[in-house]
Amino acid sequence: MSAQVSRRAVLEAVGATGGAGILFEAMGLLGLAPTEATSRVAYRPPASADFSLSGRRRARVVVLGAGIAGLAAAYELGKAGYDCRVLEAKDRPGGRNWTVRGGTTERDLDGRTQTSAFAAGQYLNAGPARIAQWMVTLDYCRELGVAIEPMANQNADEVIYHQKGPLSGHPIAYRTAKADVYGYISELLAKATDRGSLDGELTATDKEKLLEFLRDFGDIGGREHGWRYTGSSRRGYRVNPGAGSQRGVVLTPPPSLHDVLGSDVGLDFSFELEYRQAMMMFQPVGGMDRIVDALTRRVGRHRVRFGCQVLSVTDRPDGVEVLFRDGEGGTRHETGDFCVAAMPPHLLARLRHNLGGEVQRALGLPRPLSVGKLGLEYGRRWWEEDEHIFGGITTTDMDVRQIWHPSHGFLGDRGVVLGYYNRDADSLLYDSLDPAARVRRAVAAGVRIYGEKYRDELVSSFSVAWRRTPFIEGGWISWPNGTEREYALLNKPAGRVYFAGDWLSHLVSWQAGAFLSARAAVMGIHERAMASQVS
Ligand code: ALA
Repeated sequence: MSAQVSRRAVLEAVGATGGAGILFEAMGLLGLAPTEATSRVAYRPPASADFSLSGRRRARVVVLGAGIAGLAAAYELGKAGYDCRVLEAKDRPGGRNWTVRGGTTERDLDGRTQTSAFAAGQYLNAGPARIAQWMVTLDYCRELGVAIEPMANQNADEVIYHQKGPLSGHPIAYRTAKADVYGYISELLAKATDRGSLDGELTATDKEKLLEFLRDFGDIGGREHGWRYTGSSRRGYRVNPGAGSQRGVVLTPPPSLHDVLGSDVGLDFSFELEYRQAMMMFQPVGGMDRIVDALTRRVGRHRVRFGCQVLSVTDRPDGVEVLFRDGEGGTRHETGDFCVAAMPPHLLARLRHNLGGEVQRALGLPRPLSVGKLGLEYGRRWWEEDEHIFGGITTTDMDVRQIWHPSHGFLGDRGVVLGYYNRDADSLLYDSLDPAARVRRAVAAGVRIYGEKYRDELVSSFSVAWRRTPFIEGGWISWPNGTEREYALLNKPAGRVYFAGDWLSHLVSWQAGAFLSARAAVMGIHERAMASQVS
């Protein structure tokens, strides 16, 4: 109590003399108002004591969709004892957080059924597959007891393969491409700096500092060598350094400046600088769906009903009614004080509802994207044994776009390579093929990079076309330009219906977006529940 009094005294004193700005800053220092530093820990889940201490009734909440947003909403509300019911159209929880293992079966919207024959312990994270270290998803892993391991989003020995341009037709290691691009750019800039072309921009000291930096950054020769880039051990070795007299044989000479620039390999580097993609990245040990399993357990399996296809949502002054078709084809209804609509917007837009024309129009705006993934199981980890690649992503201008090497099971006897991860036009092309044809096309691309073993040693495969996946129908969405108003509208409740999902965050396509959006809905509901009359 005395601490509270003294804090209030401090605030009053500061407020009286310093004005609101300073008051707010001081509140931040005392942990009372959100500042940049404190806003990251601002979320406080609803607590059971909120009800027991205030004598209020625990509300009932109907959650539409058992993807990450829906499960997270039910989990957070459940902490305070809200009575949550989750309706899920598929026969499994998780939504796009889907890990394909041996025995996994899926029938797509075109009637194509695949059953995975992956060996025990092998899997494909068909949806989310990486988590950045700053994302709230890792906080949930900690809280839920989900073990994590590094996911190699970047690997110096991973491969760039371009089928177009002067360096086309053979794999280039990232380290080699970087050494050449950084080296030549450094040479050019050093020459320009030293001959005075940048004198208008730089002081004499700046010039010396810049030249020192460029020598280090590009591993180039000094003034006496005309600042030339001639290649170095940063490119890698033809023969690795060894014992005795084996110094190693460096991979030189580099291609010409003209070829390096013309090859566009430099355009592959910015990915690893993206805020969302920079290392360290993580994945749950055993598959991304470990998060789903843990969340579902905490929510309570009995609270999640599968095979329930929502038909309509009716908002009333005193509650929400949801009509749905259950697994047996019967029409049933569920009622709640509130509803969290955690389905993809393009599917919500198909429901009957009374939430108004503006809401309907807004739900119709996000554009679902086609995104595809293919898991290729090999009976031997040839990428480790032959290529010395331990995790990471091959980048290519072929329509497979990316080939991922697994970041788990190192040195084991088999593994699942991600044979493609593509979107938009590339993905639409694969969507249109049957699973066997997808594999043939993707394997032909992989053979160009890694040789015939890419085909010969393939054991089994499983592909997912998210646009053609029932009750999901998209990899993720994109908001068209100029839809800020509609985005803001759906971030508010429509009566007693709260929307949630990564599509209502600035982290579209990330589980973190779904978690944060779910938290926002939970906070909105809980504030209202706490403001309601004591029953
Ligand atoms: N979040 C998606 C990914 O990391 C886009 O691939």
